[in-house]
Amino acid sequence: MKIQIINGPNLNLLGVREKSIYGDTSFEGYLEQLRARYPAVDIAYYQSNVEGEIINKLHETGFSYDGIVINAGAYTHTSIAIADAIAAINTPVIEVHISNVYKREEFRHHSMLAASCKGVIAGFGMDSYRLGVENFLNK
Ligand code: DQA
Repeated sequence: MKIQIINGPNLNLLGVREKSIYGDTSFEGYLEQLRARYPAVDIAYYQSNVEGEIINKLHETGFSYDGIVINAGAYTHTSIAIADAIAAINTPVIEVHISNVYKREEFRHHSMLAASCKGVIAGFGMDSYRLGVENFLNK
């Protein structure tokens, strides 16, 4: 089982950025725990602040991986190009968010990506990623 996690813009600053919203754990620290929890699963990780690089990673993994968990950060709310990439690939994609975007500013309530995704998980802190991974494992 091969799962790709993709983090979009500003998520390289997890643990540093707006800690009251996103917590004080770096993604690398969290990823270590996640990999230890599922030793039989190949969990690949990619982060980019660049829209086109996120699209390239979706193309690269989207025909061979079993699942993709994506937190596209603010591109969630703006990117038709990432939505098109998700629609173009074969691998199912789950959209995740650390914060409960529906409790926040109105511009965060709409996702351009959700309609092309298998499902959406939001508001469970870093555990949102585990819930995404777990869904692919249960299939
Ligand atoms: C986020 C929510 C987005 O609205 C925001 O732009 C992010 C992080 C989240 O994980 O809660 O960068 O995707």
